[in-house]
Amino acid sequence: IKKIGVLTSGGDSPGMNAAIRSVVRTCAYHNIECIGIYRGYQGMIEGDFKEMGPRSVNNIVNKGGTILKSARSKEFMTPEGRKKAHQNLVAAGVDALVVIGGDGSFTGAEVFNSEYDYPVMGIPGTIDNDIFGTSHTLGFDTALNTVVECIDKIRDTASSHNRLFLVEVMGRDAGHIALNAGIGAGAEEILIPEEDLGLDRLLDSLRRSKASGKSSSIVVIAEGDKIGKSVFELKDYIEENFPEYDIRVSVLGHMQRGGAPTCYDRVLASRLGVKAVESILEGKSNFMVGIVNDKVALTPLEQAIKGHSEIDRELLRVSDIMST
Ligand code: F6P
Repeated sequence: IKKIGVLTSGGDSPGMNAAIRSVVRTCAYHNIECIGIYRGYQGMIEGDFKEMGPRSVNNIVNKGGTILKSARSKEFMTPEGRKKAHQNLVAAGVDALVVIGGDGSFTGAEVFNSEYDYPVMGIPGTIDNDIFGTSHTLGFDTALNTVVECIDKIRDTASSHNRLFLVEVMGRDAGHIALNAGIGAGAEEILIPEEDLGLDRLLDSLRRSKASGKSSSIVVIAEGDKIGKSVFELKDYIEENFPEYDIRVSVLGHMQRGGAPTCYDRVLASRLGVKAVESILEGKSNFMVGIVNDKVALTPLEQAIKGHSEIDRELLRVSDIMST
């Protein structure tokens, strides 16, 4: 292996830049060339490459987003698109690929590996934390801190006006952000896709909380929850059935994907980047590098894609007890 390519793909997440920096500098440390590929797989198809050395990644460890830009490439889902991408890599002398992204990006890497027997290594980068084989994905910790900071602010105004706030957070089909940030921000109830609380239990819980003397409340709702209503429909439903509360909705949206990465995400990115490059140099391919029991560990990409990142059920119980 003489030259490694690195790309970021799918939804961006804080810590991606720190991971790019780590890959580039680990390559330099081992006297391997490194090529940055812009806009994920789309840039691979279009040959949008740039040589990167240790000085090309100065001052980015603390930056959100991704200097390599990101994309969700439809063309890479076609055999023709992947063929063009392979031709470009071969022409540029790139021998292996580090893909920083989520499960869609890993699916692309796996297909590419099986079609061309091309060495690939994944680094999990998504705020959703929905990847099997790692306790934390890059950006998850930063997103949690962002959400908690926002809800702390919402709590101030909720409390001043004795209001109930429904706060929708990201996470796609997973409830990790909602559950963890909900506990961290002291939410009354947390609605997640993995556990259908049901409308009756939600109303009961809100009634109990009001009866116990709470004058304001915060309910955190994962965007993929199974309650069967949008957050705005839920507001109408609660207003109809429990008119005692003045309700407001806050959808946090893409601010959850931005901002400077936390120290945790920077350290994680640095560790995963080193392991990704060194694993390739040891001849490994088709794995994802992740964190298992606080240690860096490899999981076959296929398992990372197909496996399910379970929520910690203990957290559900903790959340219940905390809303007493
Ligand atoms: O996967 C990260 C994520 O931010 C999800 O939480 C969210 O559902 C989705 O991406 C939003 O995607 P887009 O940036 O395309 O709106």
